[in-house]
Amino acid sequence: MSNQDNRSVAGPNIVTDLPGKKAKRLVKADGEVVSPSSPRAYPLAVESAQGLNVTDVDGNRFWDFASGIAVTNVGHRHPKVVEAAKNQLDSLVHPAFCDYYSPEPTRLAERLEAIAPGNSPKKVFFGNSGAEAVEAGMKLARHHTGRHRFIAFEGGFHGRTMGALSLTASKTKYKRGFGPLVPGVDHIPYPKPGKYGSDEAAMEATFDAFEDLIRTRVPVDEIAGIVVEPVQGEGGYVVPPEGFHERLREFADDHGILLIADEVQSGFGRTGEWFGMDNWGVEPDITLMGKGIANGLPMSAMVAKEAVMTWGAGTHASTYHGNPVAAAAANAVIDVIEEENLLDNATEVGAHLMGELDALAEEFPQIAEVRGLGLMIGAEFVDPETGEPDGDLSEAVMHTAWRHGLMILPCGQSTVRFAPPLTITKEQASVGIELFGEALAEALE
Ligand SMILES: Cc1ncc(COP(=O)(O)O)c(C=O)c1O
Repeated sequence: MSNQDNRSVAGPNIVTDLPGKKAKRLVKADGEVVSPSSPRAYPLAVESAQGLNVTDVDGNRFWDFASGIAVTNVGHRHPKVVEAAKNQLDSLVHPAFCDYYSPEPTRLAERLEAIAPGNSPKKVFFGNSGAEAVEAGMKLARHHTGRHRFIAFEGGFHGRTMGALSLTASKTKYKRGFGPLVPGVDHIPYPKPGKYGSDEAAMEATFDAFEDLIRTRVPVDEIAGIVVEPVQGEGGYVVPPEGFHERLREFADDHGILLIADEVQSGFGRTGEWFGMDNWGVEPDITLMGKGIANGLPMSAMVAKEAVMTWGAGTHASTYHGNPVAAAAANAVIDVIEEENLLDNATEVGAHLMGELDALAEEFPQIAEVRGLGLMIGAEFVDPETGEPDGDLSEAVMHTAWRHGLMILPCGQSTVRFAPPLTITKEQASVGIELFGEALAEALE
């Protein structure tokens, strides 16, 4: 298909300078009253969105290849999700699920227990954000094991509340000025094959560090949980070597430690399976869910083996948890993923998209590596002369891509992430990669 043909898929349409006049005004007004702590990738002021399309306040149409950071997995405002949420709004918004009972969240819990990795019976605790699911997982792990320590991974991201922040180790700026954090958290290397040369070397670096830790500093029988992202997200879209999660599971079992999978970013079809861990057939003791669960409505879940969810009434809860509007949306998300066969689509289009990126990498030596699973794909930039990560280039490409109408976001030191909706077609993926290639060429001029 020629460029022109591809573009006839009604791609992005930029009609003003960027940012446009209204966007500039909004960014200024925002700066006067909104906390400056959010990172804001570029001055995009969103007015509406549908499917892959995002329209800004000046009428420019972009394509969202980041899905609002891996959230709108079935596309912005999928009609079935919108309808389910609207219907729920018409009957009940706040049942006070913390104090009473309500059908929609219970139905969602039944469905999450069915799709969560592994066959053990499970129970669900609802939260409102990824970080809340992480906090709940940490609390349950401590409560159930009677131990207080956690092992997490270098490059990991688990959120910004105090407990979650203690696990996070992707960027120093997240932690500066906020200590002391929750004590008892230690980090070991996440096995990133490229960094260590080979899969075997990467695995050995991880498990050697773990063995060293428990030999010299951390009593193993004080470790409540190992918290791991099946595919590292914010840390750079890193896919670990085959056998890593299996070995972690074995290690946890040998020492009475709970394996806690943070699937906040890798869940809900993102990797072509319901959850990242399904790619390796590993059943964690606790699975943390967020982001894509309700396609943009605030909702998260901590799903634990029944045998682990041993805390009693009143030990943990939250005013808004189990909100039925978000739960109705989440139930519709599960329906849509099943009915539209989106796990298969993510696998197929993901392979196609990676192929197109690999072709670009042949042309541009600045792309050192393309890696991913399903539609969770990263392209890492280096300076071809030194082989060092080139964060300035990945930033420049991201900004230029936005000016061309393609929304992508950074991760890791110098990686750009591709996380389009699971509904994307191969033709749309090709158009996106053409735009990305144009942006890269322009950024290098
Ligand atoms: C793997 C992972 N865990 C936890 C979080 C925190 O989620 P939230 O921002 O909803 O608190 C994120 C957010 O990016 C994430 O990617």
